[in-house]
Amino acid sequence: MSKLGRRLFVQLGLAGFIALILLQWNKLVRNKIETNNKKSLSIPFNKNKAIDFIDDYIIINKKENITVFSAHCTHLGCKINETIDGKIVCPCHGSEYDLNGNAIKGPAYKSLEKISATISDDGSQLLING
Ligand code: FES
Repeated sequence: MSKLGRRLFVQLGLAGFIALILLQWNKLVRNKIETNNKKSLSIPFNKNKAIDFIDDYIIINKKENITVFSAHCTHLGCKINETIDGKIVCPCHGSEYDLNGNAIKGPAYKSLEKISATISDDGSQLLING
């Protein structure tokens, strides 16, 4: 490879790397803005499900003791929508959280964001306090 070809190869690789960093940064910032713009809302509540994924929320129901977490992974914001062997698992890079929202396997190291919520008087709705 000639000196010019090698230089061009390095420059293209560097440009690609910078583009990748900018894309990830944009995704992270956009997710943060969406999180900050949340409003109060009501979502259906199924008291018979121990773990439920609705919209942007993970609902953990331990014997009528309800905890709601943001469904966005604290690594790069992917939407989490499954549990495996009792752990909340991010589909993007495999981060795992326990049912208390604590990060137990990286790359995420922060806990899931806890969301303030209450159950409606008739027990059919979860009122998310944005
Ligand atoms: Fe969830 Fe990377 S976004 S592990």
